[in-house]
Amino acid sequence: MYIDLIAPKTSNTSVPKSKDAKAVYIETYGCQMNVADSEIVASIMSSAGFFMTENIDESNVILLNTCSVRDNAEKKIFNRLKQLRGLKRRKNKKLVVGILGCMAERLKGNLIGERDLVSIVVGPDEYRNIPALVNEAFAGEQGIAVKLSKVETYEDIVPLRTQGISAWLSIMRGCNNFCAFCVVPYTRGRERSRTLNSVVDEVKHLYDSGIKEVTLLGQNVNSYFDKEYKHDFPKLLAECAKAVPNMRIRYTTSHPHDMSDGLIEAHATYKNICDYIHLPVQSGSSDVLKKMRRDYDREKYLRRIEAIRKQVPDVALSTDIISGFCYETEEDHRETLSLMAEVRYDGAYMFKYSERDNTLAVKYEDTVSEEDKTRRLQEIIDQQHKISAEINFTEHGRVHEVLVEGVSKKNENEWQGRTDTNKVAIFTHTDDIKVGDLINVKVTGSTSATLFTDVIR
Ligand code: 5AD
Ligand code: SF4
Repeated sequence: MYIDLIAPKTSNTSVPKSKDAKAVYIETYGCQMNVADSEIVASIMSSAGFFMTENIDESNVILLNTCSVRDNAEKKIFNRLKQLRGLKRRKNKKLVVGILGCMAERLKGNLIGERDLVSIVVGPDEYRNIPALVNEAFAGEQGIAVKLSKVETYEDIVPLRTQGISAWLSIMRGCNNFCAFCVVPYTRGRERSRTLNSVVDEVKHLYDSGIKEVTLLGQNVNSYFDKEYKHDFPKLLAECAKAVPNMRIRYTTSHPHDMSDGLIEAHATYKNICDYIHLPVQSGSSDVLKKMRRDYDREKYLRRIEAIRKQVPDVALSTDIISGFCYETEEDHRETLSLMAEVRYDGAYMFKYSERDNTLAVKYEDTVSEEDKTRRLQEIIDQQHKISAEINFTEHGRVHEVLVEGVSKKNENEWQGRTDTNKVAIFTHTDDIKVGDLINVKVTGSTSATLFTDVIR
């Protein structure tokens, strides 16, 4: 699941007016892992005497936490750098701009000096060095730190989270799968997991501090493995579920080959493990899946879905699809449409294939024309919208428990919450309803993306 831009993270401390104050503004692009990483960076910076700010105009350090997964994600950052160069020239010649995350790792030294602007470039495993690099940048030095680590998990750093009711918690980093299209193993390095105890302790601490919902994060979250005590992901989920029985637990992103019976069992056993599974399929064609190096075929994937539905009948499912991968034929494309029609996902994140340097697919021929990619993607999107709308229509009259999030993002006169199945439910707010409450609502209407509901008292 990838998002465009997340609001900057702040601490509660306001920036003092002293001219020596070092105020940091972080902008986050890409996946939820980056959101969690920005909270770790904010924590590292605060511990080193920096102040976090939400106001870019009062900052003298701007850090962009970046994504490389598709070319358009990187284009967005280059455009942002162009804007920031204007800011630096007009307002603050001493502004320090840093690039963090996947793009820093991928482009390394090439980013230094980018549009006379970037002073520091820091890869995902080097965040502990940011304070020192920023201090050197204030003294006019440029700095780069992009070594990948086999062990760094930032397990000992308590992320500086914004006040809220939901928290991201990163439990493993990196990926060993090397899917043919994906740059992540090159930008994030090899898989490594935190210890089970450290995760369970953090989950308990979050609950004690008023958090109502936690999402366990990893590039390949269900291949989590605590090497020391030989605990796998189902065990971790079960321990978290038992430790905080009144807290909702989610996770993302899982790989079909690690969607074990034990994991499905955990969903069926613990009420607080949400009935929502994001299970990227990428393509419905076994031929394409083979070329993608996804070590499952269409039938195997469908059998996993069948097993999930059998044990967790009310589960909501979502997926990622890549359209127009190398050598994809019209027949392959129709197989993707037919798989989607068979599974009937509640939602999907759908992308046009974008070639990434270093990946295996660079050696393949990008045979699908831009027109075909665009058309196929549109067909996939249209079909998914239709299915989502149909599924949501069947929800009419149904009652859901909803975690109240606050004012609706689309209509400030209404409030929104989220169902266990991760759907946005809109309702009319009354004074007795607070952010973080669990309320029951009855669905009265819907679109492909939203449920409209009445509060049940
Ligand atoms: N082109 C298009 N989509 C991609 N993804 C990963 N790499 C690429 C690429 N090169 C998609 C996959 C993955 C999601 C996070 O991004 O669907 O699951
Ligand atoms: Fe990329 Fe595949 Fe790893 Fe996911 S599992 S991060 S798609 S290489």
